[in-house]
Order: sequence, then C-alpha cells, then structure tokens
Amino acid sequence: MRRRSFLTGSAGTAALTSLSVAYRRGRSDRVEFPRNFLWGVSTSAFQIEGALNLDGRGSSIWDDVAADGSGIIADPAADHYRRWRDDIELLKQLGVKAYRFSVAWPRILPEGNREVNHFGLDFYDRLVDCLLEANITPFLCLHHWDLPTHLQERGGWLSRDIVDNFTRYATIVADRMGDRIRFWIAINEALSIAYGGYGIGFWPPFIRDEKAYFAVAHHLNLAQGAAFKALASPGRKFGTATALYPIRPSTTALADVVAAQYHEAMSTKLFLDPLVHGRYPDLVEERLVSFIRDDDLTTIKHAVDFIGVNYYEPQYRCSAPGAPFGTEGKAPSEIPATDNGALVDPDGLYQQLIELRDQYGNPKIYITENGAAFKDQPDSSLRVADVRRSAFLRDHLMAAHRALSDEVNLAGYFVWSLVDNFEWRFGFEARYGLVYLDLTSGRRATKSSFDWYAEVIRSGAVETGY
Ligand code: FCB
Repeated sequence: MRRRSFLTGSAGTAALTSLSVAYRRGRSDRVEFPRNFLWGVSTSAFQIEGALNLDGRGSSIWDDVAADGSGIIADPAADHYRRWRDDIELLKQLGVKAYRFSVAWPRILPEGNREVNHFGLDFYDRLVDCLLEANITPFLCLHHWDLPTHLQERGGWLSRDIVDNFTRYATIVADRMGDRIRFWIAINEALSIAYGGYGIGFWPPFIRDEKAYFAVAHHLNLAQGAAFKALASPGRKFGTATALYPIRPSTTALADVVAAQYHEAMSTKLFLDPLVHGRYPDLVEERLVSFIRDDDLTTIKHAVDFIGVNYYEPQYRCSAPGAPFGTEGKAPSEIPATDNGALVDPDGLYQQLIELRDQYGNPKIYITENGAAFKDQPDSSLRVADVRRSAFLRDHLMAAHRALSDEVNLAGYFVWSLVDNFEWRFGFEARYGLVYLDLTSGRRATKSSFDWYAEVIRSGAVETGY
C-alpha cells in the first residue's frame, strides 16, 4: 500500500503529465492573499529529529518500525535534534511567518510518569526562543503519533487512563512554554492514529479491531478536550490538526453512496462533530455509547479558536462487505497522482473548506498540512528541480484562494514539509520537503519549490499559467 492510500485505499495511477490543470488554461492569473495571511511550514518531531536515544529520551511506539523494504528507522532521520539551528536558518531564508512543529512526548516523560526529563523541555524551549527571535510564530503540536512505549504497554489510546496522562503531559509543556506559545494544537490527525493503528492495523500498535477503533477515537477526542480545558488561559489559541477531505462514492450505485456516507461518519465527522457540535454522528453513535460517560461530550466540545486542516487528497469509497467497516477505497483511475499514489485534486480542498463553512459554522481555518511526495533527484550540486511540487502547491493555493473569495474564514497555509523526512512506513521513499536531504551526509539543499514558495510569501500572491 502506498503512502496516504492507507487512509483512502486509493491507488491513483495516471501519469503526472496531467498534474496541473491550471497550467494548460493558457492564461495567466494572479491572485493576492490578504496581507495578514499566515504563511508557514509544518514538521513533526519523530519525522525529523533522530537522536532517539539522546539526552534521556524514552522510546516511542514508532522507534523500531522500519520503513517498508528498507530496514531504515527514524534515526538520524533529518538529524534535526542536532541541526535545528540550520533548520531555523532555512525557515528565515524561506521567509515563513509561522512554523508548526511537534513536541516528542517521550522526550518529556521518558519512563513512566514519574520523572520529567528537563533535557527534553530545554530543547523545545531553545527552539521556541530562536523562532520568536526570528519573528516566526510557533504553532506547537503536543502529539504527532510518537506515543511513549510505556503508555502503549498500559493500553495506549485504548485505555481511558490516557486522557489523564495526556493532560498531565500537556500541562508540563504549557508550564514551561505557555508564556511564549500562543497557538496550540493538541493532537495531529487523531483519525490517522485511530484508523491506522487500531482500525486497520497498518501501523503501531498494529491492531485491527472495529470496537477498539471507536474506543480509541473517543479517548482521543476526550484527551484533546481535556487538554484544551486544562491549558485554557487568556491569549492562548487552541485548535486541531485534523485529517480532512471530501469522501465521495466510487460509483453512483446506491450501495456505494451509502458506504461513502457511512465512511464519512466513522472517519472525519467522528472527530469534528463532537468537537464542534458536541455529539457523534447519528450513523455511528451506537458504536460509541458503551465508552461514553456522563460529562464526556461536554469535555470534548470546545469553542476552538481554529480548525487545522491537513488536506492531501479526496477519498472515494465503495461498499465492500467483509472489509474493515464494510467499505474500501476505489478511486477513478483517470485522476492524476503524486509519486506515492496520492490523488491530485485541488478542488477537493476547495470543497472541504466550503463544507467547513457551511456545516461547522465558518470557523477560522489554517491549512496545517498540504504537500506532495515526488521523487525528483538532485544534480551534482544537490539541486532538485521539483517543478511538480510547485505546481501542486500552486494549484492548491489557487483553490484555497477561491474558498477565501467565497467567504471561507481561511487565515493561513502550512506546507508539509520543510525538509525531506521520515515518512512513517515509507521512510525516505516519499519525499515531501521543500528542502532536499542527503541521507549520507545529512546536508540540506533547497529545492526549486523552496524558491517558488519563498516568492509566494514575499509577494503574498500566487500566479498560474505560463
Ligand atoms: C500526514 C501526517 C504527516 C505526514 C503527511 C505526509 O497525514 O500528519 O506526518 O506524514 O501526512
């Protein structure tokens, strides 16, 4: 299975030559973003830091998981734990106004919950100070999948105890950095944690069990709500980073239409509805009742300051009795795809933003992740001409701009990702960076998409057409 397709089950195969529809319109459009639009990039701790055994870090559920077929684990990854100053220089060069990163829970509470590891806190503390000095607003994400092993041994997200553990961890981080961090994201893509880890067993902890999936989803929702409430303080802004995309039926057959509706209820809406509306979608409510206690939905519902949208591709689902949750992904084959099989569909982003406007009360939105994996190779001076990435980003930004014109409350956009990094089970096979990483030396080299994005940020505008 290719990256992203574990969520979508799709396998886009068409040639990339058809990637950019905008290019072939034969005209040049220039769209300008609002002056205060927040331009950023995103990373996550486990995917870039390496140094898995340094400075008292404990182990996480991902530490031993080798990328498929390569035996490569995420150490040294992009060696960011040692080279973080270089990466801040890159952020400055790029000109971003904001940087989204995550804190590694196992660096803060390495062994059980007793001892706080001050080396871990010190690392992020320095990072935050340097970002602020550079006038870059930090968006701190508390959990991006690297759950400490000691918590997994006690049930991980399946155990309701995790809610208190997460809140305690969040409080420790906030006590140290809450004076400087305004933007807080509790959990990155709770859906991916629940579905990949417990629903279909595609990644740690490799459980495939529908009941476990719903329990985990509820605990993730609860942990997020509890943390927001524990950390609340004037001046702090709270939001999600949620995997969000339109879910479309693979065909017009009634069974597929029903399958797509069900899949939407048990995936994206399972996380957004209780957060915004304080209730689970009708189609799946009965699967959750046994886990819900008295005040849970009050804890989960939160007037968040923003919704973070991680958008890569739409999903197409069809009915598949016998498959997990009774549906599977099947996308039309004519849709173009990236090098790791993700469908290229900027209109899906537009559609999703409009849905947020219409179904969730037009919240403030940041696109907290958007990007693409391409395998363009460097020349002898490590230079990568990744024009397809620029095209991908440009087309998505045009779609985002269209949503802005249609009154969507979109306040910023973060490219995934700054530098090529350890793409979970796909290791370095899937490179998403604006910056190329040489795996042998750890050297970084900006790609042509980096220059392109720097110019977008500088001018506040995107142009299409050649
Ligand atoms: C998202 C993850 C991020 C990265 C991108 C490609 O789902 O949040 O860590 O893997 O996909």
